[in-house]
Amino acid sequence: MEEILKKIEQEFEQNFADAQAQAGKLEELKIKFLGRKGQLNTVFKSLSGLSQQDRPVFGKRINELKEKIEKKLNGRLTALNERVSKASADRRPENFDITLPAIKKDTGSVHPLTQVIDQICGLFVEMGFMIVEGPEIETEYHNFEALNIPLEHPSREAFDTFYLENKYLLRSHTSPAQIRFMEEHKPPVQIVVPGKVYRPDATDASHSFMFHQIEGLLIDKGITFAHLRGVLSVFAKKLFGEKTKMRFRPSFFPFTEPSAEVDISCIICAGRGCSVCGQSGWLEILGSGLVHPKVLEACNVNSRKYSGFAFGLGVERVAMLKYGIDDIRLFFENDLRFIKQF
Ligand code: DAH
Repeated sequence: MEEILKKIEQEFEQNFADAQAQAGKLEELKIKFLGRKGQLNTVFKSLSGLSQQDRPVFGKRINELKEKIEKKLNGRLTALNERVSKASADRRPENFDITLPAIKKDTGSVHPLTQVIDQICGLFVEMGFMIVEGPEIETEYHNFEALNIPLEHPSREAFDTFYLENKYLLRSHTSPAQIRFMEEHKPPVQIVVPGKVYRPDATDASHSFMFHQIEGLLIDKGITFAHLRGVLSVFAKKLFGEKTKMRFRPSFFPFTEPSAEVDISCIICAGRGCSVCGQSGWLEILGSGLVHPKVLEACNVNSRKYSGFAFGLGVERVAMLKYGIDDIRLFFENDLRFIKQF
């Protein structure tokens, strides 16, 4: 028995020296010598073959060896763990305060104007309209002439414009997209065109040199003012609520005949009269009319066979009404405190 225990101890010392600072190897030794089926337990079981006198003597010897091995292995494993955690602490910069809050990742949000454009276009898509876009740099022809606004016509003054070189300009409304689409597509036509437009207006709480419009155009056989009214009243009720009333006021646009401006009952005071609607109970939201035959002819559409309606809506105005915003400049300042409210 004495021999066996000596051999175990020698083997352990050899293995322990080989394992050095390898935590994995040290764990293996624990199993090899101290485990349930390890060497020491095995000799323990052979105690039963010894005499009554020898049994307690060798039982004690085995326990002492077990404690010795345990102490050595655990001592080195603890030292190793301490070294690892100290090394990772050393890698942190000095003065590192682990109680500081973590750096937060901002996810951003959809701009309120984009939300309103998506919502409005979505309502027209439900009614069968297709969303298309037109260029922001336009020709004089598409922005004016083809829309029945001749060069010397006084109505051009209403469309003050940023001119570029060679008869190019920044479009002053989205209506030229009507022409571009009809030049390329035969009727029936049923489109909405969202986008930026530009006018050299002095900036104030209700004016910006750049703003957004949504143009609508529907051309088919036998389209009348009744279709225009039907489509726009569904739109107004869906956007502003079922109780919203709508009215048409006669107006003038060179590209529509007849032309009308459309008002909705004030969404702030429900038509009773307040400061937002100037006590009138009504809010103007868009211009519209039946497409002028000259506009159809400019796009090679036979105006005796086809007719249609068009409308143009200011996005900022709708967004300001919807969210109770009183200054158009807020949309373009990129102040996160404003943008994050939507
Ligand atoms: N383009 C016009 C503007 O910017 C708005 C407009 C009015 C568009 C009547 C239309 C329309 O399509 O039929 O003031």
